Amino acid sequence: MFFQLLVIIHLLLTTLASHQTYPGTNTRPILSDTEAVQYTKAKYLQGWAPSDIATNKADYTVGSGGYTNIQAAVNAAIKAGGTTRKYIKILPGKYAQLVFIPQTTVPLTLYGSVGHPALVHIILSQGAKMSGAEWSKQVNPNGSFYREGDPAWPMYHDCAIRATIGTFCSSVVWAQNDNLEFAYVTIENPSIVGQAVAVSKSTIKGDVDFIFGPASAVFENTNIIARADRPRNTAVIFAPNTTNTQKFGFLLIRGNITAETAIKNNRGVHLVRAWDSTPSANGQILIRDSIIDAVINVNAPYDKATSGRSFSGNINKNRNLNDSKYNRFWEYANIGSGA
Ligand SMILES: *[C@@H]1O[C@H](CO)[C@@H](O)[C@H](O)[C@H]1NC(C)=O
Ligand SMILES: *[C@@H]1O[C@H](CO)[C@@H](O)[C@H](O)[C@H]1NC(C)=O
Ligand SMILES: *[C@@H]1O[C@H](CO)[C@@H](O)[C@H](O)[C@H]1NC(C)=O
Ligand SMILES: *[C@@H]1O[C@H](CO)[C@@H](O)[C@H](O)[C@H]1NC(C)=O
Repeated sequence: MFFQLLVIIHLLLTTLASHQTYPGTNTRPILSDTEAVQYTKAKYLQGWAPSDIATNKADYTVGSGGYTNIQAAVNAAIKAGGTTRKYIKILPGKYAQLVFIPQTTVPLTLYGSVGHPALVHIILSQGAKMSGAEWSKQVNPNGSFYREGDPAWPMYHDCAIRATIGTFCSSVVWAQNDNLEFAYVTIENPSIVGQAVAVSKSTIKGDVDFIFGPASAVFENTNIIARADRPRNTAVIFAPNTTNTQKFGFLLIRGNITAETAIKNNRGVHLVRAWDSTPSANGQILIRDSIIDAVINVNAPYDKATSGRSFSGNINKNRNLNDSKYNRFWEYANIGSGA
């Protein structure tokens, strides 16, 4: 009896402890404790420390009694100007609309239902190959979301006049602002461009390159779910195009990575691929202290870059973590059967 108990305790401990050991393998490099120390949330957020969101704090409210769409509240907050953070509270609901956040000096926080990110769902499906005309009919019916003169108009209009909209315009949330915060929301297909973007206590869903861009951004306590409904049995979660001189791209910390059934059964998830949008892009990411479900393609946790460049993991013991001859995708202290 005592022995059985010991076996159970041992099993529990070994399941909870991370098996990820430095320096990892060619296909899956792992940071040492001393290497990991360099990659803090504060460094990714360039010194900004988002404060806790008070549930009663709302400069703008979206939903019953407030703005009817998120974009209108974002526009209003930007038009109001200033450098004081503005809080946009989104009431529970399914928001079939885009949220385009242009570069602005107004720091914004968009938050949903505290403790219940599933209640605030921002979802719309557009393919990157659509024409601008077809796209604008879907995302701006009757001109009800985007109007000339609005802060988000240039972003919208640039997409609407394209022959083919391309990746950024096909995102649901396209965030160009710096010091931008999202919390307690469910978002499908965001593209994050600004510097120091913080996403916490949220859920992000998508299928291919569904979190992408050159941002330095932190995803904390956030569930990442690869969706299978379009339909598919493979997925790529992150596609950073961090400039190779910039040390910090994406950080996923205390997150959960999982996938819907068809992808899970196929072990079809690639964690990351480099988005080689220009020769000076070499995406950077660290996934740490997270739970990774048995959904990962174990032969290729990291996929070839969008340019076709093969994944190249640096497992030299005295490695330079910025070395642009290698990919800069790292993991540290992850647990779960996919870690
Ligand atoms: C657009 O306007 C037409 C005509 O007024 C109306 O029938 C339709 O419901 C509107 N569509 C949306 C999405 O507002
Ligand atoms: C991740 O999953 C675990 C186990 O299902 C759960 O306890 C935890 O709350 C989840 N984390 C987040 C950020 O949702
Ligand atoms: C990454 O993508 C953005 C948006 O297209 C672009 O502005 C930036 O130059 C790209 N960065 C690199 C290093 O290619
Ligand atoms: C990595 O790059 C950053 C930013 O350019 C620099 O500050 C840092 O010293 C570099 N680290 C190494 C080990 O080269």
